[in-house]
Amino acid sequence: MDKRPRRLRYNPQIRTLVRETSLEVSDLIYPLFIKEGKGQKEEIHSLKGIYRWTLESLEEEINEIVALGIEYVLLFGIPYHKDNKGSEAYNKEGIVQQAIRKIKSLAPHLYVITDVCMCEYTSHGHCGILDEKGYVHNEKSLYYLGQIAVSHAEAGADMIAPSDMMDGRVGYMRHELDEHGFNHIPIMSYSAKYASSFYGPFREAAGSVPAFGDRKTYQMDMANTNEALREVALDIEEGADIVMVKPALSYLDIIRRIKDTYNMPLAAYQVSGEYAMLKMAVANGLLNEEAIYEATLSIKRAGADMIITYFAKDLARKLKG
Ligand code: PBG
Repeated sequence: MDKRPRRLRYNPQIRTLVRETSLEVSDLIYPLFIKEGKGQKEEIHSLKGIYRWTLESLEEEINEIVALGIEYVLLFGIPYHKDNKGSEAYNKEGIVQQAIRKIKSLAPHLYVITDVCMCEYTSHGHCGILDEKGYVHNEKSLYYLGQIAVSHAEAGADMIAPSDMMDGRVGYMRHELDEHGFNHIPIMSYSAKYASSFYGPFREAAGSVPAFGDRKTYQMDMANTNEALREVALDIEEGADIVMVKPALSYLDIIRRIKDTYNMPLAAYQVSGEYAMLKMAVANGLLNEEAIYEATLSIKRAGADMIITYFAKDLARKLKG
């Protein structure tokens, strides 16, 4: 036998030397939920270890993030008031706009990305504006989404991440941002965002369960992969700087296919349901903690350059130690 693959597994040193993929803290983007109102943080029932923060309590979390070396956060707002036009989403004094300013005052170097969508702000829980038949009206929605993006940039966001899945939104937001003097603000587009059951815990966390129907008229069919390539192509054409696949673990094939097809920075979102499953399994002793690292590394190996993950703090602790 002259071919012995085990030679390169003989001890930790040689395994490290030939390791092909690594996960770094600088690959990780940490989602943050900020809710309107006074008081303390409140744990999200289905996402153990993840909290809804208030402006008042946020400092504790920001300090911890910075101490762990996490450099990127993705903000979601939970407003008091919801209406059919999602007014709080583009209010200059809205919860996300205030949170951006607060975070920038606490940690000027923390890179703040904002999720641009309407579902947390609309009374009906859909990601855009409805027509008389309850169908999400594409062009009307674009108008508001553009306003949300600009209001986030005005508040000091470093990057905008549209997650609504309306057609043409990347081009529309690019145009609006440029018109308002924000041509330096990149767009990270949720390009291939599937209508997934794995968003369940997020919708509980953000109070954004649709009041009727589902999101299948705008989010993608889980059975499709060519369609993901077309969505990405459109977003690139419209000016997306970073494209995203969401969810991650059940869509590793999509991540790989996009990475092989387009020469673009690629993000993947390890979503709330993925976190909940693994966290629960580890908490109940069914899996050991390494499973979290393994699942997240697989997303990197599939081709993602960066990963949005609720595990960012856990992973940062592990990678430090
Ligand atoms: C907003 C949005 C959602 C998620 C990110 N942005 C929910 C949805 O589309 O229903 C889900 C994130 C997660 O599950 O962690 N549209």
